[in-house]
Amino acid sequence: MTVDPREAVSGAAAEIRGRRQWPLPKLADPKAPLLVVEDLSVRFSMPTGSVKAVDGVSFRLDDGEALGIAGESGCGKTTTALSLVRLLPANGRIRSGKVELFGIDLVPKTEQQLARYRWREISIVFQGAMNALNPVQRIGDQVGEPIEVRLGQSREASRKRAGELLELVGIPRKRADAYPHELSGGMRQRAIIAMALACDPAIVIGDEPTTALDVMVQAQILQLLERLRRELGLSLMLITHDLSVIAETCDRVMVMYAGRVAEEGPVSRVFTAPRHPYTRKLLSSFPNIHADRRTLDVIPGALPDLRNPPPGCRFAPRCSFAMDVCREVVPPEVRFSDGVRVACHLFPTADTAPLVEASGPTAPLVIGRPADGAHEAAPGIPDVPVAPLVPLEPSPPAPAGPDAAS
Ligand SMILES: Nc1ncnc2c1ncn2[C@@H]1O[C@H](COP(=O)(O)OP(=O)(O)OP(=O)(O)O)[C@@H](O)[C@H]1O
Ligand code: SF4
Ligand SMILES: [Mg+2]
Repeated sequence: MTVDPREAVSGAAAEIRGRRQWPLPKLADPKAPLLVVEDLSVRFSMPTGSVKAVDGVSFRLDDGEALGIAGESGCGKTTTALSLVRLLPANGRIRSGKVELFGIDLVPKTEQQLARYRWREISIVFQGAMNALNPVQRIGDQVGEPIEVRLGQSREASRKRAGELLELVGIPRKRADAYPHELSGGMRQRAIIAMALACDPAIVIGDEPTTALDVMVQAQILQLLERLRRELGLSLMLITHDLSVIAETCDRVMVMYAGRVAEEGPVSRVFTAPRHPYTRKLLSSFPNIHADRRTLDVIPGALPDLRNPPPGCRFAPRCSFAMDVCREVVPPEVRFSDGVRVACHLFPTADTAPLVEASGPTAPLVIGRPADGAHEAAPGIPDVPVAPLVPLEPSPPAPAGPDAAS
């Protein structure tokens, strides 16, 4: 798949980069897009064969943008995210493709060189990460650790910064001395987000960051992420099964199926006029308060065995539109003028007419997304106040990564 050929770096992106606490990596091209993933393929070795978990995935993330990644369990969302900073399980390998951050390809980097980019440029908040906090270490020390270790700051400076970060995510500074068990689940997840922000990364990836939380706390965490994105100029990648979260939080959505991108584009387009049959099924299997529907659609069948996926379109065995060509030829990607790209034989060119489902049109997913992207607290959900961003104090330059001079 080819990636979005949008202009290199816009004025808005340049402004966001100007707010960085730390200079760009030495090898960065200041004019390059923030993140371009091109034709990424990842395999897991198993005694029974090689799992083609991610196969030719391409996408782009711009400065300040939020990209949602959707798709049913096992379609390769987490593997895609982990591949960006190569945090794959031991049996996982990137087989081919590029992961270009500021124009620097991270794929050929050694482990030591990649350490420069983890936390400092890309950080990940995992599902249930709040339960991974060290139970015998104070919250402030845990949040301060990456600042000390990755940025080479003194212990005092790290502790001070940890207090500021905790306030930034709505935890009073004095709670820095608390142990994880003394905080609620929502507060622990906030602490994890503070940790993810510790080194002022350009990209924060949330892999189901709110799944283990109740709906009220979930809403607060999402509001927090959106506010941080605006205030810090963060770029977000949000992996979730909850399409309403993507509808409310993200600019763009990438729908994956069996390790490939089925459809990608602006949320406002993909969720109201889905083209790919899988996207349509996914949307119609999701509860939608705007639809007159008493039962949800179920996508028949299951994901293919990724050790031996079907040769053409991987969705063909489950697709009610499947044609002969679908079973033999991998569908090429077509890009439409509204910014959506689709890989489906029903759309051989960008002027192909929209799909009309035999069983009737799918009700569009319309979930109260703020029109101008500005956030407003959902009615009835208290908006937890967060402290304004306090810039890092002048400090010794961060230690140059091993590849800084390469
Ligand atoms: N360590 C591993 N060894 C073998 N196969 C793996 C491994 N990790 C993941 N897989 C397989 O890779 C595919 C993609 O998995 P991945 O975890 O990326 O999916 P996902 O979209 O994140 O799913 P979920 O929504 O359940 O988190 C699946 O078929 C999964 O079984
Ligand atoms: S390529 Fe064919 S099988 Fe695949 S989604 Fe499109 S119509 Fe269905
Ligand atoms: Mg996952």
